[in-house]
Amino acid sequence: MEARLINLPKILDKRGNLSFFEHPNQIPFEIKRTYWIYDVPGGEMRGSHAFKEQQEFIIALSGSFDVVIHNGDKEQRFSLNRSYYGLYIPKMYWRRLENFSTNSLALIVSDKSYNEHDYIRDFEEFKKLLNEK
Ligand code: TYD
Repeated sequence: MEARLINLPKILDKRGNLSFFEHPNQIPFEIKRTYWIYDVPGGEMRGSHAFKEQQEFIIALSGSFDVVIHNGDKEQRFSLNRSYYGLYIPKMYWRRLENFSTNSLALIVSDKSYNEHDYIRDFEEFKKLLNEK
């Protein structure tokens, strides 16, 4: 499966807008875990790893940041800056999050519980594992 931006429903209301996502209508996996990244100092970067098994969906709930992904072949940069769309990242994609704006809030949902053994933290090892497939 390819990484892709997913547009979310937007319920416009003069009292304030509302968006949501659920499986299977908007995202292709059942959510097991939710975490968020916030208070990122200027110039810092998060991520810089891949997952062997877990899939994620990332939204900029507030502010903006870039997600740079690599599938072994090509690098792609996605700028997330609205809360009504997000980036779906299948397993075995290298990713880093950077260019965080002040007060940005990254919401991430995953189909797996936290497991350090699912991380690939070395890019050369990542490419080696891809070539073995
Ligand atoms: P990490 O995934 O390396 O952060 P990044 O999003 O920048 O790649 O996680 C940082 C630390 O937080 C690491 O020590 C593990 C811990 N952590 C958990 O305990 N549970 C979680 O769900 C996540 C995402 C991280």
